[in-house]
Amino acid sequence: MVNANDYTNYMVPFYAPEDFIVKKAKGSLVWDANNKKYIDFTGGIAVTNLGHSHNELIKIMNQQSKNLWHLSNLYMNSPSIELAKKLCKKTFADKVFFCNSGAESIEASIKIARKYCATNVNKNKNEILSFTSSFHGRTLLGIALAKAKHLTDGFAPLPKGITNHTYNDIDKLEDAFSEKTAAVILELVQWQSGITKANKKFIAKVKQLSKKYNALVIIDEVQSGVGRTGTFFAYEQFNITPDILCFAKGMANGFPIGGILTSNKISDSMTVGSHGTTFGGGPIACAIGSRVVDIISKKAFLTKVLSKEKRLIKKLNEINLSYQCFNEISSAGLWISVELASIDVDDLIKLSHKNGLMVLKANATTIRFSPSLIIEDSLIDNGLEIFEKSILQLQ
Ligand SMILES: Cc1ncc(COP(=O)(O)O)c(C=O)c1O
Repeated sequence: MVNANDYTNYMVPFYAPEDFIVKKAKGSLVWDANNKKYIDFTGGIAVTNLGHSHNELIKIMNQQSKNLWHLSNLYMNSPSIELAKKLCKKTFADKVFFCNSGAESIEASIKIARKYCATNVNKNKNEILSFTSSFHGRTLLGIALAKAKHLTDGFAPLPKGITNHTYNDIDKLEDAFSEKTAAVILELVQWQSGITKANKKFIAKVKQLSKKYNALVIIDEVQSGVGRTGTFFAYEQFNITPDILCFAKGMANGFPIGGILTSNKISDSMTVGSHGTTFGGGPIACAIGSRVVDIISKKAFLTKVLSKEKRLIKKLNEINLSYQCFNEISSAGLWISVELASIDVDDLIKLSHKNGLMVLKANATTIRFSPSLIIEDSLIDNGLEIFEKSILQLQ
């Protein structure tokens, strides 16, 4: 038997988890070791989009683990080819590369962009433009792209060749581009400063300048992808087609997977051995991913995501009307943030857990919800009742 003290004794302190150990989870419900029940508004941080322990996915995982578990990329396996084909048929892409996490998908996208420019233009065309308040993972490259002090402090020297410009600001955006710009990387919906969508003018300008300076557009859909915002990928709503798209998180509903989508034009400039990974494209992750894509890409499924968003927002507005406790409520599909007017974020998160609701922090003043995309309406209502009760206790 282990307990919460063992966590402190044996784990590197990169996280500050809640003070209970989770025993099991099903759908949008979670139970701790004392059998206390929680409604899950976190979805494993926008990962378990089809809920915890999805019956059909369990069957697929079990079956695939009996047939073929791991082989390496020296040999082909059907689930990875099938998932790649499916993703290409459903998106702008002609080609897919699989890895294991969001940060690795970012790494791959930047390597591919630089390699493409080195091959087709020259090796000096290697600079990357990124934006403030972005999040691109915790690797040295990821934190260098995001540039925020709370991510980079203590980790210098960071990878070079990165310029960072204010998100959604078209003023002086052209000054951030040059003939040396290989790619621009952005999230169409950011979460670090509360759910923030890219505005239309900003996207139009990014497109125009990328074309003018012959720079690739990399869209980080690690968190916004796989149905989270109400379309399979968020780019479908923003009148922009990426050259490279990064995905991870929800693609195999919690079984580790990441990857990039791209075009033949870009893929054709890659060479055998110039990039790779041991686990990427593994048959179990890809078999699960294939079914996830089938389910989530259906129009009827995505329509329901948007109606659940409406339900949540309506009720949050009602709570705000009663207590004036939020400065702002923002959402993009089932990805929702509330900026708190005066209540302390950490106190509210603690009390919500105590009362049986799991919620996430976005930043020092903002709470974030990213529940499973199939969360029942009754659990949305019950969860928000707990949220309201917690707010009331802190007023
Ligand atoms: C937008 C975005 N990009 C990249 C990442 C990094 O993904 P991972 O934690 O799987 O490395 C995250 C993780 O939260 C993310 O939200």
